[in-house]
Amino acid sequence: MKTFYVLNGPNLNRLGKREPGIYGSETLQTVERRLTEVANENEISIVFRQSNHEGDLIDWIHEAEDAAGIIINPGAFTHYSYAIRDAIASVSVQVVEVHISNVHSREPFRHTSVISPVTKGQIVGFGTQGYELALRSFL
Ligand code: DQA
Repeated sequence: MKTFYVLNGPNLNRLGKREPGIYGSETLQTVERRLTEVANENEISIVFRQSNHEGDLIDWIHEAEDAAGIIINPGAFTHYSYAIRDAIASVSVQVVEVHISNVHSREPFRHTSVISPVTKGQIVGFGTQGYELALRSFL
């Protein structure tokens, strides 16, 4: 059975409470439940992880090196973490980057992703549905 990793970075544990006008009112648990339904329908498995710490995300990217794919929302690390970028570059598994909000219509510091050059692609601005679009892109 194929296994995918869904990794979420800092402050995404606060989905549902955090700036709902930008990120919506759905919790991360609800998003994960929906993805689990898609996984069950397609006979794949998903490992879900969230951390507010850069090193955890790096360790999990390494751990996922033999997985069928990684879906990652690195939160604010997207914009400056060369360490997460290097971790992605160090594994051959394909990675899709997801952002709930349209980062390009927000503050200028959010317009840059140091992660994107080492990913398969980026899904931005489709709300929490972006995670499902990313998963389906692998199926
Ligand atoms: C985010 C966008 C980032 O700029 C922000 O720091 C986040 C969430 C998004 O999903 O829209 O934490 O990655």
